[in-house]
Amino acid sequence: MQYFNDQDLQSVAAYLKSLPPSGKPLAPVFTLDDFARKKGALDYEVNCSACHGVNGEGISGMVPAFAGNDSMLHDPTNMITAMLNGARAPHSAERQTAAGMPSFAWKMDDAQVAGILNYVRSSWGNQASEVKTSDVATQRKQSGAVNKITSSSAQ
Ligand code: HEC
Repeated sequence: MQYFNDQDLQSVAAYLKSLPPSGKPLAPVFTLDDFARKKGALDYEVNCSACHGVNGEGISGMVPAFAGNDSMLHDPTNMITAMLNGARAPHSAERQTAAGMPSFAWKMDDAQVAGILNYVRSSWGNQASEVKTSDVATQRKQSGAVNKITSSSAQ
């Protein structure tokens, strides 16, 4: 949207605000038990914090923050997709780095992906619905992402 002028932005915003709400209630929130929280925190620190920040603060203009990010509260499909397939921010005149996120499909099984996302979705003030291992399994299949590499998969 770097080429939008103020009037374009106004028009798009007015259009979006004119649409009716989806009417779909948010899924119920969940609580992570102690063990899952500790595991999630460790996995997050090892795999994600270099870019998304130890406290989910992100890097302004480059990597999205998780703390106070309302999009975390909704359906987890986009989050699962980012984990399984990686992501790249768009290149624009003002933000030329186009920072990338690697795929974690080869490194984590479905339960690990769900566990780390559940940590993110229930930390730093976020209170979202639970990501199920089966949601990740379905999306892994549908998106054609690879399975986790294990020593036994060298068959
Ligand atoms: C090398 C840096 C890097 C690492 C490591 C990284 N990410 Fe990302 N991540 C990014 C960038 C950059 C984006 C934004 C891409 C875009 O703008 O589309 C992103 C986007 C995301 C999104 C999508 C956010 C949204 O608003 O839709 C999620 C979810 C996510 N990352 C989760 C994680 C998790 C969980 C980990 C650790 C397992 C992780 N990332 C590790 C750089 C990284």
